[in-house]
Amino acid sequence: MPSSIVLGVGGGIAAYKACELLRRFTEDGHQVRVVPTGSALRFVGEATWAALSGQPVTTSVWDGVHEVPHVRLGQRADLVFVAPATADLLARAAAGRADDLLTATLLTARCPVVFAPAMHTEMWEHPATQANVATLRARGCLVLDPAAGRLTGADSGPGRLPEPAELYETALRVLARGPAALHPDLAGRHVLISAGGTREELDPVRFLGNWSSGRQGYALARTAAARGARVTLVSANVELADPAGVRVVRVISARDLEAAVTSAAADADAVVMAAAVADFRPETRTDSKIKKAGLAPEPLRLVENPDILRGLSARRPRPGQVIVGFAAETGDLLRNGHAKLAAKGCDLLVVNQVGAGLAFGTTDNEAVVLASDGTEAKVPRGPKEVLADVVWDLVAARLPG
Ligand code: C5P
Repeated sequence: MPSSIVLGVGGGIAAYKACELLRRFTEDGHQVRVVPTGSALRFVGEATWAALSGQPVTTSVWDGVHEVPHVRLGQRADLVFVAPATADLLARAAAGRADDLLTATLLTARCPVVFAPAMHTEMWEHPATQANVATLRARGCLVLDPAAGRLTGADSGPGRLPEPAELYETALRVLARGPAALHPDLAGRHVLISAGGTREELDPVRFLGNWSSGRQGYALARTAAARGARVTLVSANVELADPAGVRVVRVISARDLEAAVTSAAADADAVVMAAAVADFRPETRTDSKIKKAGLAPEPLRLVENPDILRGLSARRPRPGQVIVGFAAETGDLLRNGHAKLAAKGCDLLVVNQVGAGLAFGTTDNEAVVLASDGTEAKVPRGPKEVLADVVWDLVAARLPG
């Protein structure tokens, strides 16, 4: 359903990335009013915002006064999304200033408000900025953590605006879930997620792998971080940008993944195994490239990999830990799912149909979440973020108080 979005833009160089976010919103049919600050217009001009949004653009409360824009924009919005949010803008928002159209809109908005900060590391880490972020979070705003990486000039560190695709997924999640999306119900919890697909090497250039893109696992990580959790993401061969505010541990094979998961699981409140882990690996990995010797190919000999999920479920490294598995099925979903839940011994199993155009690499997913207490939650086709929230709802309900 099309929504009415106010895109607030602060005066930082990352304003250029907000153009891409705006394009995604409008291509999806949403109505977007862009409200830049005066200094944002020094980075990206009014004409760009007006052309991309198809709407008038103003920074001042003195334009079109008869329409009372300083009140109307905030009142009518379904979402106010501020990207980039500079240190100055966060300070003005935290202080409740209303000295331009954007800050006035922030005071009148009754809908969810999301800030995506971007600034130099020193400014982000300054106690004044951290106090402003804490104030805004305590008031119920979602303030994303900035990504780490290259900043303006030669500097790098935490302070980058997350990629537009990531901001867009966050916005869709907040629109789909409403104010509940802003509730930090996983604050104080450590969650461990595995994502992607393992690769089992045959020689220095070849491997046995699978089509998993890692999108569902990354959506789980982003969503858990937005709900206040400390997140460790064990990522197997994924090409997506690191989710902001998440510790990412990169692995290649099933055995690498087992080592990383085992080490982080010791103090995790919940473990979600969304990665597609190879059940088998080649018995040997040769140090030099396998040659085409003669016409008859050598048969490939495989050995079994450890079943990480089953092992964790049997050991339960931490009392009260909630363990979740994923199962991609091509046949009878529920029958296979119930059998797998029992065999793995986990608390929840997310079962989804895979095959041509389904689940792998897409941004949508459809699944049934089976629980060891016999309950089932059906999640209709929708963004992977929505399925992620259902998983976290079910996990949160099972976590000890
Ligand atoms: O048995 P199957 O591969 O369908 O099980 C899928 C679930 O088990 C996923 O959660 C996957 O991460 C996990 N798994 C595992 N270790 C393996 C194979 C799968 O933890 N060797």
